[in-house]
Amino acid sequence: MSLLDAWDNQQARYIAAREQRFDALLTVIEWIAAEGENRHPVVVDLGAGPAAIGRRLLRRLPTASYVGIDLDPVLLHLGRRIAEDFDPGRLHMVDGDVTDPAWLDSVGVRSVDVVCSSTALHWLPPDDLRRCLRNAYQALRPGGVLLNADHLGFDEQAPSLTRLAEWVAARDERAAADRGALSWDDWWTRARADDELTSQIEQRDRILGSSAVADETEDHDDVPEPRPPLREFLELARSTGFSEVETVWQRFDDRIVLAVKPGPQTP
Ligand SMILES: C[S@@+](CC[C@H](N)C(=O)[O-])C[C@H]1O[C@@H](n2cnc3c(N)ncnc32)[C@H](O)[C@@H]1O
Repeated sequence: MSLLDAWDNQQARYIAAREQRFDALLTVIEWIAAEGENRHPVVVDLGAGPAAIGRRLLRRLPTASYVGIDLDPVLLHLGRRIAEDFDPGRLHMVDGDVTDPAWLDSVGVRSVDVVCSSTALHWLPPDDLRRCLRNAYQALRPGGVLLNADHLGFDEQAPSLTRLAEWVAARDERAAADRGALSWDDWWTRARADDELTSQIEQRDRILGSSAVADETEDHDDVPEPRPPLREFLELARSTGFSEVETVWQRFDDRIVLAVKPGPQTP
């Protein structure tokens, strides 16, 4: 199995309905392209990893183009290799921090139809998430849409629902492990052993310092994934200026939240 396929299996170990979630996300983008009669949607992906959304998007919407933002040299490299499968200019990987507005220069302010993300923003502390959403808002054209597919937890007042979501996640993960899906730590062990990635791994270690290695070796799987409450994300998106902020897909605490940048244009 290729490293890229192993990545997908590894991620699906933690998000059992990952492909259904991608399907829902791409359905919204298809609708935007059809409804707004914009046959060439420009899509930016925050924390893109190895262009997980990009690969699926470009196959499904032959006129779309995609920019993936990430700061991990290994994952950027894997994403750039995928670009070779598509017409030139359709898939770009940008080395950038989603909390820093510098990436806006690479895509153009107010020129993006969709800013999306999968399983990336839940790691950001509130102030970083605020900055990240502000950047997304700036990048979007009026009427443009934010789509965040991520772990967004139940409210503190609903502890039973939190326990339910944790139970389901643990059960799903065990089932995926039984089917042979690598854990996060094991995937990185395999990436480190790949001769083609030696320089990117060195770069990663330099950028992330010792935390890069710690991230992969300190039994990452025993550290619970942060699951910031949905309510906080909705409030933050609304206070950034987005309207029509709603969940459009959900499996327990795994959701897609849609938000529209108000403006004279429709999505
Ligand atoms: C769990 S992975 C998900 C990757 C991909 N979206 C997917 O679904 O396969 C989280 C990604 O977010 C990226 N990331 C985390 N913090 C970031 C930041 N501040 N700026 C850019 N990328 C970031 C990581 O490098 C990693 O690629």
